Parts: sequence; C-alpha cells; structure tokens
Amino acid sequence: MALEHAIIIWIHLICSAIWVGGSLFIALVFAPILKTMAPTVEERLQIMIKVGRRFNKIAVPALLILIATGIWNSQQILNKPELLFGTTYGTVLVIKILLVVGLLGSFALHVRIIRKDVEEKIMRKELTQVQIMRLRRKIIIVGEVTVVLSVLVLLLAAILNVGI
Ligand code: HEM
Repeated sequence: MALEHAIIIWIHLICSAIWVGGSLFIALVFAPILKTMAPTVEERLQIMIKVGRRFNKIAVPALLILIATGIWNSQQILNKPELLFGTTYGTVLVIKILLVVGLLGSFALHVRIIRKDVEEKIMRKELTQVQIMRLRRKIIIVGEVTVVLSVLVLLLAAILNVGI
C-alpha cells in the first residue's frame, strides 16, 4: 500500500536524520566548541564520553530501525538475486548494504575502545597522559571513519532515489 510505504520511508528518513545529523553535530559543532571550553584533554574526553553515551541511547535504536526499515524497503529486490546483481539499482543497493556493514563494524569498534573499564579509568583519572592521548587518537580516527561511512551511505541513498 502506498501510504504504508510512505510511512516506512518517513521512519527511515527520521532515523537517518537522527543518526547522521547527530553524528555530524557532535563532530562539527560540539567537538570544536568543547576544545575551547574544557581545559584538559582528560576532561574533554570525560565530557565527550558522557555525550556519546547519551547520544547512543537514541542513535543505536535509530540505526537498528534504519536497518529494519531499509530491509523492508528493499524486500522485493532482495528476494530476486537476478535484479539485485543484474541491475544498476541492485548493485547500488548492494554497495549501500556493504557500507552499512562497514559502518556497523566501525561503530562496534568505537564502542569497544570506550569499554566500561576504560571509561571508569578515565573518570577516576587513572590513565597517564600518554595513554589518554593514544586513546583519544584512536577514538577520533574510528569516529571519523563512522561519520564518513554514514555520509557515503546517504550518497548511495540519493543515487537509489534518482534511479540511475
Ligand atoms: C545508516 C544507515 C542508512 C541510512 C543513513 C539510510 C538513508 C536513506 C535515505 C536518506 C533514503 C532516502 C529516502 C528516499 O528518498 O527514498 C534511503 C532510502 C532507501 N534505503 Fe536507506 N539508509 C540506511 C540503511 C539502509 C539499509 C541497511 C537498507 C537495505 C537493507 C536501505 C535501503 C533503502 C532503500 C531500498 C531506499 C529507497 C531508495 C529508493 O528511493 O528507491 N537503507 N535511505
């Protein structure tokens, strides 16, 4: 039904706005401002971890709903391998799905780097300056990869939408 389809696409779009918009906000607005406000790297990391944990409460459900609604959107074509691998639309969709798998991998790594025990050490200020800097570098690199993959997924969504 057309209305049902529209509602599923709407939910897909809202979740996409939450996931991609929220990640871009943290990377492009919150992080640079935090840099000018918190005096030490350790304090910045503490604040960023708190923000990340709070954001994840809506971002993770949004990502899961994106995958569920995405699969629903493509159920017709996913059931037909000849269309999935034999048409440009299908190929773009496969690339989009692979990017989402990569995105899940980089996000999982991002979460793993800031495990509970690591977080507790940061909060209790038990890490040395060198450990803090190394951890910060890792978090930034994996975080950037996650954001770039999210933006690339949107490009693929745009290509699907134009129907090239
Ligand atoms: C981070 C994850 C994702 C993001 C940010 C995202 C974003 C978007 C956006 C913005 C659209 C445009 C809606 C439109 O105008 O039609 C879209 C459409 C779509 N998405 Fe996703 N999506 C994600 C994951 C997925 C997954 C995992 C699948 C498939 C398993 C999927 C399948 C589709 C399909 C089939 C469309 C309709 C394209 C068309 O217009 O023909 N998406 N997505």
